[in-house]
Amino acid sequence: MSTPLARLLRQEQLAFLTRDHSAWGGHLDQVRAFLGEGLQAADPARPVLVLGAGSGLEVPWALAPPDTTGWDADPWSRCWTALRHRRWAPWVFADLTGGLSELEAAVRRTVAEPWSGRRRGREQAILRLAGLLPSLHPDPTALRAWITARRPGTILSANVMGQFGVVAERLVETLFGGSPWTRDPEVADPLAEAMDAWTHRAAAAFLVILRESGADLWLVHDRAVVFTEAPLGLGSWENRWPQQLQGAEGLEVSDPLSGLDVMTLLGGTERIPFRTQRWLWPVAPGQQHLVEAVAFRAPRLGA
Ligand SMILES: C[S@@+](CC[C@H](N)C(=O)[O-])C[C@H]1O[C@@H](n2cnc3c(N)ncnc32)[C@H](O)[C@@H]1O
Repeated sequence: MSTPLARLLRQEQLAFLTRDHSAWGGHLDQVRAFLGEGLQAADPARPVLVLGAGSGLEVPWALAPPDTTGWDADPWSRCWTALRHRRWAPWVFADLTGGLSELEAAVRRTVAEPWSGRRRGREQAILRLAGLLPSLHPDPTALRAWITARRPGTILSANVMGQFGVVAERLVETLFGGSPWTRDPEVADPLAEAMDAWTHRAAAAFLVILRESGADLWLVHDRAVVFTEAPLGLGSWENRWPQQLQGAEGLEVSDPLSGLDVMTLLGGTERIPFRTQRWLWPVAPGQQHLVEAVAFRAPRLGA
C-alpha cells in the first residue's frame, strides 16, 4: 500500500476515534450486540474473518473464537485493537476493494503528464479522470485469495463497506491538492458521477465475493447519511430503506453504497437473511447515519 494511502487511512481512523462519542451509546450498544452475536454463533472449529476491524471500537473481540483474523488497511488498526482488547490477533492489512492502487495511479496520471511531470490544468485533469474512471474495475483479489485458502465459516463486515467511496474520494482530493467536485448541486459533475459508479462497482465486487464465500455473513454498514439537526424516525423494516426512513423528505441524503441494493445482491433463493435491523446513529451535530445490520446463513449443501 502506498504511503499517501496508508497515511490517509490512519487519518480517517484518527478522525473516527477523536469524534465526540457522547451521542454514540445507542449505536455502539447495537453494533456490538449484533457483531457479538455473529462471533458467538460462529463455528469455533472454522476460521472467522472480521473485515473493517479497525481499532475494535465496535467489535467485541472477547467473544471471538481463537482462529479469528482481523482485516483492515489502516497500518495501526492491529495495534489499536491490541491496546483496546489485549488481543494480538492475526491480521491482514490489504485494501478490501482491490482497486485503490489502480485508482491512485490513474489520478496521478491525470493530474500530471507522466512523461514530463508537468501538472495539468485543474479542469483538464478533472475531465481526463472522469473519462478514465469507467475503465477501472476494482477487484478484491486479496480477499478472494484469503477466502479460497482459509475457507472461513463466518465473515463479519464491521462498518467498512460504506467507507469504500469515502476513502476513494479522499484519495482523489489529496492527489488533486484540493476538492475537484462541483459544489453547486444544480451543476452536473461528471467526475462525481464517475466516482459514484466506481464506488458501486467496488461494493458490488466485494459483496459478490462474500456471497460466494460459503460463509455465514454478518454485515453492518452505513446505508444512508442524512444532513439535518431535525429528529428522524424509523418505521418497521422495509427492504427498500428510503421507505423506512421518516422525516428525511426534502433533505440532503447521501447513499454511501451508491445505489447498491445489498438485500437483492445477497438474498434470493440461496441465502436466507435471518437478521434485518436498521437504526439511527447521530455521528455528529447535523449528521445522522442510517445503519443497516443484516445476517445471512450460508446455503447448506444438499438443502
Ligand atoms: C468506520 S471504521 C470501522 C470501525 C471498526 N469496525 C471498529 O470497530 O473500530 C472503517 C474502517 O475501515 C477501514 N477501511 C476503509 N476502507 C478500507 C479498504 N478499502 N480496505 C480495508 N480497510 C478499509 C478503515 O481503516 C477503518 O478502520
